[in-house]
Parts: sequence; structure tokens; C-alpha cells
Amino acid sequence: MKRLFLFVATVLLALPLKADEGMWILPLLKEQKFDEMKSLGLKLQDYDIYSPDQASLKDAVVIFGGGCTGEIVSPDGLLLTNHHCGYGSIQSHSTVDHDYLTDGFWATTRDQELPNPGLTVTFIDKIDEVTDYVKAELAKDKDPNSMNYLSPSFLNKLAEKKVGKKFLQNNPGTEVEIKPFFGGNQYYMFTKKIYSDVRLVGTPPSAIGKFGADTDNWMWPRHTGDFSVFRVYADKNGNPAPYSETNVPLHPKRWMKISIKGFQENDFAMIMGFPGRTNKYYTSWEVAERRDIDNAVRINIRELRQKAMLEEMLKDPKVRIQYASKYASSENAYKNSIGSNWAINKRNFEQVKRDEQEALLAWGKKECQPQYEEALLTLEQIVSDRKDLRSRKWMLDEAIVRGIEFTSVPTDVDTLITALTKDDQKGIKKQLFLLSNAFRRFYDKDYAPEVDRKIAKVMLKEYRRLVPTKVEPAYFANIDKKYKGDVDKFVDELFEKSIFGSQENFSRFIAHPTAKELEQDPMIQFALSVKAEQRELNQALKQFDDGYNLAHRTYVEGLLRMNKGEAQWPDANFTLRLTYGQIKGYSPRDCDYYGCQTTLDGVMEKEDSTNWEFVVPQRLKDLYAKKDFGPYAAANGKMPVALCATTHTTGGNSGSPVMNAEGELIGINFDRNWEGVGGDIEYLPDYQRSIIVDIRYVLFLIDKYAGADYLLKEMEIVK
Ligand code: ARG
Ligand code: ASP
Repeated sequence: MKRLFLFVATVLLALPLKADEGMWILPLLKEQKFDEMKSLGLKLQDYDIYSPDQASLKDAVVIFGGGCTGEIVSPDGLLLTNHHCGYGSIQSHSTVDHDYLTDGFWATTRDQELPNPGLTVTFIDKIDEVTDYVKAELAKDKDPNSMNYLSPSFLNKLAEKKVGKKFLQNNPGTEVEIKPFFGGNQYYMFTKKIYSDVRLVGTPPSAIGKFGADTDNWMWPRHTGDFSVFRVYADKNGNPAPYSETNVPLHPKRWMKISIKGFQENDFAMIMGFPGRTNKYYTSWEVAERRDIDNAVRINIRELRQKAMLEEMLKDPKVRIQYASKYASSENAYKNSIGSNWAINKRNFEQVKRDEQEALLAWGKKECQPQYEEALLTLEQIVSDRKDLRSRKWMLDEAIVRGIEFTSVPTDVDTLITALTKDDQKGIKKQLFLLSNAFRRFYDKDYAPEVDRKIAKVMLKEYRRLVPTKVEPAYFANIDKKYKGDVDKFVDELFEKSIFGSQENFSRFIAHPTAKELEQDPMIQFALSVKAEQRELNQALKQFDDGYNLAHRTYVEGLLRMNKGEAQWPDANFTLRLTYGQIKGYSPRDCDYYGCQTTLDGVMEKEDSTNWEFVVPQRLKDLYAKKDFGPYAAANGKMPVALCATTHTTGGNSGSPVMNAEGELIGINFDRNWEGVGGDIEYLPDYQRSIIVDIRYVLFLIDKYAGADYLLKEMEIVK
């Protein structure tokens, strides 16, 4: 016992990284983390997880669409991801008659599976370290301040050069990409195969797939069945091909086995997926900037906007549906910012980062490496210099650009004005047609002008309260000049006078278009003025970017050198990573403890037929009443729903496979707890939890709820 303790103590001393922290790069896994994973219970060999030479688990993990992860679970290309990742596709197939969002959908045969133009699934065939190659190419550049080292187009050209045009021609659907890691200190090349025939196989109703909706979003304990099922199709040779009836299900290199054996608290778990973005290498100044500008502005503005939106949503069922998705996406980032600031303060991230900086300064001095001190001074200076501009940009983005929908009315009307002035009938007809289309895109089925009007008043008042008049978009000066500062009157007039203010206004304009009306249109002028301000701010802030990026690279390089010999993980950049840890509950506050597993009991406890977020479908209630759980119940007879684990995940990890020590699928990752989102800056071992839908709930829903048990036949289920 004592020996064990001593051993653990030395390991801990030698490891400043917190256990379970990290989003690890697969080719380095064996050298960096494999032993530790073994000691936590992993039963696999490193090459079972990742191997450059043979099929491994990594070949079953894919990018789903543009921002989620998915996993292949059958030899016929069946894919699991989240309901919220498939949401757009599910919505696109939904009509009043076939409302798959409300009712769910299950294809009973393969020809009922629904194609989704534009949706892709990306496999990572190969990962190569190419740091030396990229650095050698960069060295040919004589400009010491060249920004090519971060430029995607430059790096991707290098990637194409490396594999050769022939290779790409001979491999349809294959793309290569080089991405910078550690701020541009290391590079990896990814050879990707992109499939574009991806069909919807099934989805539970939103009352299950989005159960708890916004109230439960970023929350644990959670009771959401956040999954959907797709299938990847290929041409007869297994190559990527656009949708065609003659395409066949893809036979992948590798698919995941599914375990319904269950697990215990503290069991090993690991997740592979595509985390999008983290900021582990922030300096203390950037932590403060994030808290005091980015997060603070977002929290303040969205709170006001959502309050106004919700009032309207609760008044009118039509508005509730129209604004459900806008509200959800607003709320998603809002709650994240709250959690982020909570963690920054609670754990004094500023001090944590300051300690890191101090350590580097001391080490740099000792090693006679003055560049690190310079880099830190530069970063401090830049953060200080960009403060006002950054505040203005965040205020403009949050309150006006995202806050007020009519900021995006069509403004591209010059050609129409010219045609009208010249009385060019053909041109007028064409341009009016284009404008009508643009208007319809803006004034779509989810737009309620009354809601926009109400929110605009709230947003403009807050914006004017916080942003000095002299740096507002120029057009806002009218509020004082013409309306004596009366924002309500200003907004009302925009809606009355603009051709985009209502459907009637627009129809009236189309019937009798004049150049003068367009030239004087107040919403167009408002929008143009906001765009001009946005451009100016972006331009002004851009001056700082290059200097920032160069100093950041040097700072990160310093940390890597100082901590040489320790395993380091680079910030997330939407490349394939692995995180591991344990299935574990947590204590959110004194004297409170949340367990690591939720069950269907909790769904029933949360049921509220008067609140759309917590309605439980009758069929689920019947199955619950009969305890008709099939082989999916836990050992205690309860039906598992979700679990949480100490794994280090972030946005982009949604849909990621969660595996046990044998590498079998036990769940699908879909969220984090809000107390843990600060882990994007600094991992929080006692708070951070990935939120995962239990695979037994997924199978139960497919089998017992949807009656789509034929799908289970193509899966490998381990009991
Ligand atoms: N918080 C999760 C994520 O960041 C889930 C978002 C979808 N759900 C929602 N209610 N908005 O993506
Ligand atoms: N919900 C996130 C996603 O969609 C996951 C997370 O932020 O933890 O990727």
C-alpha cells in the first residue's frame, strides 16, 4: 500500500497536467499516454486504437457535416451521431404532413432512407507529422513576418505538393490538408476521404432527442435521447460519389462494436472525435479580456434579447415555433459564457496563467532566451491596445448584427437604382426579381417583424447606453438629430417607412418601384451604416492579429521547450483527438452530489405536459409503465438514459463515440455541464464532465420505441 502511494505521489509530482486533461493527437498516443490509459484500465493495444498500417478504431470515427462527430456502427455504413447534429437534415425533410421533428422518422427499408444534399461524412485515412517539411518550405520565404505559417491556403498547397496531383486524381473524394498545431510550432497532414451521399435512417421525436431543450442544455443531470441515425453510401467500388440511386451502402474499413454490458462509476472511458477550439495557451491578459469583454458583452446583451424574445414566444404559439431555433442557438452560447466566467473567477484562471508566464520568464532568463519575455510583453501590449476596438466590435456584433434581424436586409440595390434611373425595363424586371428573392430569404417563415421591432428597441437602447455616441455607426446619429434620442420612435419609423418593414410595404414598392425610395430607404441605410462600421472595426483589429499570432507562437514554443519531456496537447483545432478518463459524478456545490448515471425514472420525474420542453410521448410512458426495456435495462432493472465522464471534450465533440476499456461503444457524447465549460481554457478535474447518451437508451429507443429492430441486426452488440 505504502509503495503504491509513493509511486502515485511521484507520478503526480512529475505530472503538472491534471489527470484526464487533454485532447491527444493519435500518432503520439502510444508514446505520450498509452501507459497511463492502461493503468486506468484500458484493455486494448495501442494499435487497436490507432495504427498507421492497419484498420483501427480511428477508422470508425468521422466528421459529420461541418461541425460534429459521428461513428460507424455496421459493416453497411450505418452511422450514429446526435439529434442536434442531424437537426438541420431532419428539419429539411419535415413538412406539416411529415413532421419528423415532432414525430420522429424511421426508414423501414433502405430505399426509404432520405438523401441530404450538401451533407458530408469525412473519414481520416492517414495522419502524418510534417513539421520538418513545412518548416523547410517556410524557410524559403524571405519575409521574417510572413503569415504563411498559419495560412490554410498556403498550407493546403503544400499538402497537395507533398502527395502529388496524380494521387488526388487517382483517389476520388480524397483531400489533403495540413493544419498548424501549438500556434504554428508543429504541423500534421490529414488525408481525408469525403463521402457526399449520406442518408437519414431514423430519428426519435424532438420530445426525446431534444428533451429538456434549452432549460436542460449544458446541464447535468440530463435526460435527453440526443441521437440520430444516418447511412453512408458510396459507388460500387466503395468510392465517394454524389447521390445516385445506384449507390450502395459503404462497407467501411472498420465499425464499432456496441456494448450493453453496462459499467460502474470510476470505469475507464475514452472518446475520439473532432473538438473544435480551445484556449489552453491564453495568457492572463487574454483570460481577463475574454471575461471582461467577450463573455461580459455576450451575457449582458443576450440576456436582454432572450428576455424580449421569450415574452413574445410565450404570447403566441406561432412565434414560439418561429423563434425556437434562434432562441436555442442564442441561449447555447449565452449559457456557455456564463459557465466560462464562473470558472475563470472561481478557479482564478488569471493567476493560473500568470504563474505559467512567470515560470517561463524565469526559465527564459536562466537559459538566456529573451524572446519569451519579448513575446509576453507584446501580448500584454496588444491586449491592452485592442481593448476599445474589441469592446466596440463585440457590442456591434452581439447587439446589432446578431441582435437586430433587419441588419441583414438586402442592401445590394445599386444596379436596381441605376436601372430605375435609366428606365431600363429589362434591367428593372431582372433586378426586381432578384430583390424579391433576397427579400424572401430575409423575410422567411421564421421572421416576425413585431418581434424584431421589439428586440431592436431593447438592443439599440442598450447599445447606445454603452457605446460612446462618437463611435456609433454614422446613421445612428439620426436618432438624436431627427428623433431627439427617442429610440422607440426611430425604430417604429424604420418599420413604417422601409420597403422591408412589412410584406405590404414591399408589395407596394414592387408595384411602383422608384429609385428615390430605394436611395432613401431607412433600413437599407441603417444596414449599410452597420456594415461600414463592421468593416472599419475588422480592419482596425486586423492590424493586431499578425503581431499577436507571432508572439503567441513564440510563447507556446517557450512553454513547450520549458516543459520538454512532459506530454503536451495542442489546443483543439477540429482535428481528430482522443480523450480518456473515468465515468464519474461530481459535486456542483457544498453538500450536493450528482451521480454519473440518469435513468428513465428521471424523465418521468421531469415530465410536464404543460411545458413543451418536458413533454413525454405517450408511447415512452407506456413502455416505462410496463417496464418493457428488453435486454437494455441495467442490472438494477432501471432503464439507463445518460451518463457523465471526466473526459476532456468541447464543441465539435458532439456525436463522438464514447468507448469502454475494450473499445466498445457505450454512449454518444452530446454536451458538457455548464460548470465544466471553463475547461476550454483550463481543465477542471472536479467539475468538468462530458454528457453522454447511454447506448442502451439508444438501442432501446430504436428497438422498443420505434420498432426499427431490423437495424440492430446489422450491428455487433456485445452482451
Ligand atoms: N450545448 C450543446 C452544444 O453546445 C447542445 C446544443 C444543442 N441544444 C440546444 N438546446 N441548443 O452543442
Ligand atoms: N454540445 C457540444 C457540441 O455540439 C459539445 C460540447 O460543447 O461539449 O459539439
